[in-house]
Amino acid sequence: MIPTLPKNNQMIVIDGVDGSGKGVQSKLLYEALSVISSQVLLTREPGGSPAAEDIRKLLVEGEPDKWDSLTELLLMYASRRSHLVDTIWPMLAKGGWVISDRYADSSRAFQGIAGSLGLDLVEKIHYEVVGSFEPELVLILDIPESIALKRAFGRGGKEDRFEKKGNEYHAKVRQAFLQIATGNPNRYHVIDANQSIPVVTQEIFTVLNHHFNINLKVQ
Ligand code: TYD
Repeated sequence: MIPTLPKNNQMIVIDGVDGSGKGVQSKLLYEALSVISSQVLLTREPGGSPAAEDIRKLLVEGEPDKWDSLTELLLMYASRRSHLVDTIWPMLAKGGWVISDRYADSSRAFQGIAGSLGLDLVEKIHYEVVGSFEPELVLILDIPESIALKRAFGRGGKEDRFEKKGNEYHAKVRQAFLQIATGNPNRYHVIDANQSIPVVTQEIFTVLNHHFNINLKVQ
């Protein structure tokens, strides 16, 4: 089912608690990579393909207890499958870059650990849906959840179903990301996101420059 992909793919995930600055940093990374390549895709989860964006709306709007954690997980994986098949894998197969604002570690952290389903269940479903495919690099933007949630609520809008789950849930999410990152130091890099935007960008570019042997510069 997975198309033939280059051995070292060029998929970079930016993940972390809500309000950690993933959106801004993903965009800055997209702009910098676009200087060195004409094949760069900026995408996000939940969403990232037309069908997955339909599922996103079900997930991010409404009351926190609208879905239980297992239903949330299944919807996340339905959207992820569509995202991979229709968007991510075709771009990687062409040798392009993919930057994803969130990916599977959000399911591990939010539904698996904070949502109490357990990582074993998430890994089982993950393997059935995704197989052995892994992104090349995952950057976890780490920031105290109290600061991050203030920023996230400040944005307003209807997409606040997860923000409304409260501080305790998000404190677990933060610890979960840190725990997951210890699993594979080659793939995971934790970035202190409680710093100015250019400082965080520079740290991200340093990790990428080293990993991919490229030369991104903060503008
Ligand atoms: P996102 O749009 O990234 O929110 P934000 O910009 O506030 O960080 O993601 C929407 C919400 O979906 C976010 O609160 C995290 C949650 N989520 C999960 O719970 N599991 C997942 O697998 C994914 C991809 C997201």
